[in-house]
Amino acid sequence: MVVGVIGSGAMGAGIAQVAAMAGHTVWIYDTQQAALENASAALKSNLTKLEEKGKIKDAASVFAAMHFVSSLSALAPCKLIIEAIVENLHIKKTVFSELETIVADDCLLASNTSSLSITSIAAACKLPQRVLGLHFFNPAPLMALVEIIPAIQTDASIITTMKELMTAWGKTPVIAKDTPGFIVNRVARPYYGEAIRIYEEGIADMATIDWALTQIGGFKMGPFALMDYIGHDVNYVVTATVFESFYYDPRYKPSFSQKRLLEAGWLGRKTGRGFYNYAQGESIPAANEDAVLGKQIVERVLAMLINEALESLHLNIASAADLETAMTKGVNYPKGLLAWCEEWGKEKVLAVLDNLYNNYHEDRYRACVLLRK
Ligand SMILES: NC(=O)c1ccc[n+]([C@@H]2O[C@H](COP(=O)([O-])OP(=O)(O)OC[C@H]3O[C@@H](n4cnc5c(N)ncnc54)[C@H](O)[C@@H]3O)[C@@H](O)[C@H]2O)c1
Repeated sequence: MVVGVIGSGAMGAGIAQVAAMAGHTVWIYDTQQAALENASAALKSNLTKLEEKGKIKDAASVFAAMHFVSSLSALAPCKLIIEAIVENLHIKKTVFSELETIVADDCLLASNTSSLSITSIAAACKLPQRVLGLHFFNPAPLMALVEIIPAIQTDASIITTMKELMTAWGKTPVIAKDTPGFIVNRVARPYYGEAIRIYEEGIADMATIDWALTQIGGFKMGPFALMDYIGHDVNYVVTATVFESFYYDPRYKPSFSQKRLLEAGWLGRKTGRGFYNYAQGESIPAANEDAVLGKQIVERVLAMLINEALESLHLNIASAADLETAMTKGVNYPKGLLAWCEEWGKEKVLAVLDNLYNNYHEDRYRACVLLRK
């Protein structure tokens, strides 16, 4: 099968590599010649390194299966096209409707969007039943998770086909309902939002919150270090989009602390400064390793995460098994949140949330009905 990738940026290049390594001929299209050249050079170097490490046999033949093109019409022979261009609904819709004039009727059209409605993208097409979301994680060659998102118009048989294909590509697919943030980008919101709230209230500083969640919670990276790593241009915008898309549910409310970083151009590691200062000679401040405070921080953030996972289960966003897979494979959580809930006991999670709710009287802290059942 010939695969097309539209957009040769960070995600498009990674997805093209995954498809080529799975044995497909891949056509990669971008409007920017420089982006195509960068992707070509990066892919060549990645594949050579993989061959040197013994992970692939023949880097040259995998690379030769990838064709970098500056005309959309070159994608005519494709049977699956994955779009990974700028996160803009109007531009994505335009590209999808143009694509339909080029490809055959049996070509499947997927979007790698992180936050836009797949249903809305499908609505731009004459054959919306062939449109779906295929949400890879960054870097696509390394991250196993792929969220498969049917639009309300998508033909159900495509989902089964796509699940099989993603498995054949060495990925771990999960199915998510077409709702803001799908699974991972929705369920993970409190990891950032609640951590910032604790910091803004002066309960603990950033280093202490990061210390608590890594050393006591077992997360790989603390929320502030992680937001700096992701970049505030990406992380803040996802939060703001999810918040707006959920009709301003206070649970997803963005923060001014992060917005100010964005306004200052302090985007995180990539600009040398974010919540922390990465300039030479600067170091991450020391944490206050107070066990009682640390436990309180972990309980608050984790209760909010578990609540979000339960709410997603309650509203049929995904199956319990897929929710667990998504959070362990998509953001490397040490445990699935539903398993964590069982381990803690629903009563304890509910007690933490009800205590927050009683203190603040904010809808943000409402507990999922499943905790009371
Ligand atoms: N970066 C991530 O962590 C991540 C993770 C999952 C999903 N996504 C999603 O993947 C998509 C791409 O993100 P990215 O980080 O790779 O962006 P990027 O900026 O690295 O790359 C986007 C590429 O698309 C090209 N492009 C823009 N408009 C185009 C058009 N009309 N036709 C063809 N090419 C066009 C640009 O020239 C650029 O090379 C977005 O929808 C994003 O939300 C990103």
